[in-house]
Amino acid sequence: MVRFENVGLRYGTGPEVLRDISFELAPGSFHFLTGPTGAGKSSLLKLLYLAERPSRGLITLLGHPLSKTPRKALPAIRREIGVVFQDFRLMNHLTVFDNVALPLRLAGQDEAHVQESVTELLSWVGLKAKLDERPLRLSGGQKQLVAIARAVVTRPKLIIADEPTGNIDREMSLRIMRLFIELNKLGTTCLVATHDMVLVDRLQKPVMELYEGKLADSGWWMEGAASNAVIPAQPLMPDDLSPDF
Ligand SMILES: Nc1ncnc2c1ncn2[C@@H]1O[C@H](COP(=O)(O)OP(=O)(O)OP(=O)(O)O)[C@@H](O)[C@H]1O
Ligand SMILES: [Mg+2]
Repeated sequence: MVRFENVGLRYGTGPEVLRDISFELAPGSFHFLTGPTGAGKSSLLKLLYLAERPSRGLITLLGHPLSKTPRKALPAIRREIGVVFQDFRLMNHLTVFDNVALPLRLAGQDEAHVQESVTELLSWVGLKAKLDERPLRLSGGQKQLVAIARAVVTRPKLIIADEPTGNIDREMSLRIMRLFIELNKLGTTCLVATHDMVLVDRLQKPVMELYEGKLADSGWWMEGAASNAVIPAQPLMPDDLSPDF
């Protein structure tokens, strides 16, 4: 699903902020990414959602070696990836509903389906009363929930979440993590960057640790041969969620 081989990243002419990063995420796996502030977590995630290109090394994403992939093929790969940004990146001129509906509409889903799945998902995260609100009128935690809903609504093959629970209370954080775990059970590969060691301890998933741009014990993360396995992408439907959410 994802393979990094001796990847390095520098911004401009600055020092390398990521060095010798090698790991593999098997299809359907779930990993946490932890490390101190400034260790390079967001930078590593940017490489995964194609916002940055590595300064050296090889990245294979969803079966595509990126250095050999034509630029025009990248948007299609990017559409298979759901991203929760550390700074949310909501569209402030769109309503909460329209923000979450956007990826479904871009994918050409019919409007009845969009209405149903967006309303159900936003109700599930407790934002039913805010469907018509603009993001600027939401609390930080509410914005984060909208960003999470937008990232998962298309049932992407890979979910990359950068501190997805940084602004929400413990109960909602656990609920959100259970959402990721439920999606993971349905086949979505998940990588979640977090400082929240209580969540990490509770969920008992493998943890990748970054220190000053290097992965601790990175050899441990090579989990076998790269896979081209393709998991069919389907929109997230409320029925997919366990009743005990
Ligand atoms: N756009 C940029 N241009 C130049 N340097 C950057 C840029 N973004 C990040 N950096 C540098 O890269 C290093 C890693 O930053 P990054 O944001 O990846 O850390 P992080 O582990 O996500 O930290 P945090 O826990 O605070 O989110 C830092 O030294 C930072 O100053
Ligand atoms: Mg960060």
